[in-house]
Amino acid sequence: MLQSKIQEYTEEIRAFAPSNNEDVENFRLKFLVAKGIVRNLFEEFKGVPSEQKRLLGKELNELKNLAESTYEEAKQKFIDSSDGDDTEHLDLSLPAEGMQLGSRHPLSLVRKEIIGIFAKLGFVVSEGPEIEDDWHNFTALNFPPEHPARDMQDTFFISNDKENPIALRTHTSSVQVRMMEQGKPPFRAIMPGRVYRNEAISARAHCFFHQVEGLYVDKEVSFADLKQTLFYFVQELFGEGTKVRFRPSYFPFTEPSAEMDISCSICKGKGCQLCKQSGWVEILGCGMVDPQVLENCGIDSEEFSGFAFGMGIERIANLKYEIRDLRLFSENDLRFLSQFDSELI
Ligand code: DAH
Repeated sequence: MLQSKIQEYTEEIRAFAPSNNEDVENFRLKFLVAKGIVRNLFEEFKGVPSEQKRLLGKELNELKNLAESTYEEAKQKFIDSSDGDDTEHLDLSLPAEGMQLGSRHPLSLVRKEIIGIFAKLGFVVSEGPEIEDDWHNFTALNFPPEHPARDMQDTFFISNDKENPIALRTHTSSVQVRMMEQGKPPFRAIMPGRVYRNEAISARAHCFFHQVEGLYVDKEVSFADLKQTLFYFVQELFGEGTKVRFRPSYFPFTEPSAEMDISCSICKGKGCQLCKQSGWVEILGCGMVDPQVLENCGIDSEEFSGFAFGMGIERIANLKYEIRDLRLFSENDLRFLSQFDSELI
């Protein structure tokens, strides 16, 4: 009895030739559900005399496997590949996969913060080209042709035309010149950008880095204005109570010139590895714009005076985030980058 049923169904299953989803589903309902044929045959199998069990059990299992594989095959052909109604496979209650937010590059964060502080003092943002001519990068800034000051900055030249060599700018001070040439005082601007120098790459030097230049030109601008502006900036960026000190220095385009140190933001002036136990770290160069530079840019140096300053963004980021190796900024290592804010600007 059971044996003939098994044979009958085996043939039926072998002959199964579905032509649509519905046929497949009907097959499943007929053979494979809890009250379907396969289960029923297994129920019947329980009453079979034990001497027949071996043979019939084998046949019954084969039938079951055949039914399952026939169904799977038919399902793949019709149901899974149907481009229409497969909603029954979509579990809308599953929690959504989290979206990974990118993070801001630390240099972008610092640049934004610097710009924000100076914006409160009325400074606007201005930018200039990274490929620069000799005039804007050097000559207008009082670097005479053979002056040793040109050696202070190892330059990547693009064209070595004797008359007007073209180079990757070595500092953002070139943007000061462009700004003063193009407009009329007063100027109050902050100029962020990338600069290039022909240096071997190491933890402490790179062939490109970022600077922010500042320029303030108006009637009766004095060194006191310079000091007050930079003092305010430092309190905002590194916190109230940060001390500043100015050391006399030399830049061809400012007179007098100074370098500004702040009390070490890491050890608060007590002395640590970063400040080489001195308690102070240098953060920028500054000075009163040399009257000759004003004249070079078409500004009457009798009527106007100004101050300028320039700082490295990497340097500030090093201090703020205690980053010791400059190379991290340009290696695009996500383990490093993902530690910073993902705030939207
Ligand atoms: N351009 C200088 C440098 O790259 C930095 C600098 C110093 C900029 C003094 C200034 C300044 O505007 O007044 O080393």
